[in-house]
Amino acid sequence: MTSNPSLLIRNIGTLVQAEVSDQRSIAKGADMAQLPLLHNAWLSAKDGRITGFGPMSTCPDQADNIIDATDRMVFPSWCDSHTHIVFATTREEEFVDRINGLSYEEIARRGGGILNSAKKLQVCPEEDLYESAWGRLQEVISYGTGAIEIKSGYGLSYESELKMLRVIRRLKQNSPIPIKATFLGAHAIPMEYKERREEYIDLVINKMLPQIAEESLADYCDVFCDKGFFTPEETNRILKAGWKHGLKPKIHANELGITGGIQVGVANNAISVDHLEHTGEEEINVLQNSNTMPTLLPNCSFFLGIPYGNARKMIEAGLPVTLATDYNPGSAPSGNMPFVVSLACIKMRMTPEEAINAATLNGARAMELEHELGTIAVGKMANLFISKPMKNVGLLPYSFGTKLVETVVLNGVAVSK
Ligand code: NIG
Ligand code: FE
Repeated sequence: MTSNPSLLIRNIGTLVQAEVSDQRSIAKGADMAQLPLLHNAWLSAKDGRITGFGPMSTCPDQADNIIDATDRMVFPSWCDSHTHIVFATTREEEFVDRINGLSYEEIARRGGGILNSAKKLQVCPEEDLYESAWGRLQEVISYGTGAIEIKSGYGLSYESELKMLRVIRRLKQNSPIPIKATFLGAHAIPMEYKERREEYIDLVINKMLPQIAEESLADYCDVFCDKGFFTPEETNRILKAGWKHGLKPKIHANELGITGGIQVGVANNAISVDHLEHTGEEEINVLQNSNTMPTLLPNCSFFLGIPYGNARKMIEAGLPVTLATDYNPGSAPSGNMPFVVSLACIKMRMTPEEAINAATLNGARAMELEHELGTIAVGKMANLFISKPMKNVGLLPYSFGTKLVETVVLNGVAVSK
């Protein structure tokens, strides 16, 4: 039996998220500002897992592969808990329409937006969908992402939602990073069901969900609960049906207004409620009394010119804020996690420490992967990245748009330089 090569990273300027004392499974409220750092450190890995780390005075002297990380920082990979990277085409025409004055909601009402993506995806061969999503996966890995959630939701018919989920299953089988699959059949009411929305909801509940469960095609169930999309009552029915098939909720809420989405997500014990650009006192109180994680998607606010989620208020209320890219063709055509961290600091006044916790540990937790990823701990997956030379973590969000990721390590193997 051949043994896998071991890896040793030596002379690490700073090892970020090194769990030197108790291992955390979430970062909440004031604790979000605590980012454990170990200076002048080493880290070892074998068979895909972290096998050790510590100060250079205790560094082992042998390994099959040795990387010198003098003056560099080693971070655990980003955990991107909300994306839609399976899609047929980009939507730059709508981008130009918005520049010329149309709103995202107006474009959606005219059959653009999600329905436009659905029309394109329905006629796109499964192979092409797979190839383009695979390309996006490679792209986000190069930004330092080491785990990702991917949603369906551009199919909006029985055949095409299943097609999307089968593409995600194939990505899962071949991907070097963990993938969680989310069923988002309730992303929009298809044009042909406009006057028969009940029938579409029936299709989601009684036809799509059972088949998806039968083929084990999804981990989570999502609904776009918002103005002009699905009501809290409809969302409640779909989420309850999802639970019956073993799919935990993880939903889109409060992007376009205060709509009751947070409440219905929490009432259904959602893993996370995502977007939350519109969040009032009542919503914060509901989240405080729950295990549901608020996930903010600043790329979407940036790209659509809508308000940013109120991260400061959430952190002050003791909540565990998560950050994700929302990579999709309509509201966030970018899977760049370092840029998300920059936006969180620049536009939402999160500190670099808070934003890094939100994009690593809390992102892992929002995919139920907090025991596998999100921090540096012995036994966790060796998915990490080595930065270019840098002395302070603040340089990462400060240098927005600059690539500070130098080497990506996945499963204990350096995959890019
Ligand atoms: O998370 N808001 C709902 N869904 C996606 C965007 C969908 C689209 O415009 O294609 C989002 O922003
Ligand atoms: Fe989304």
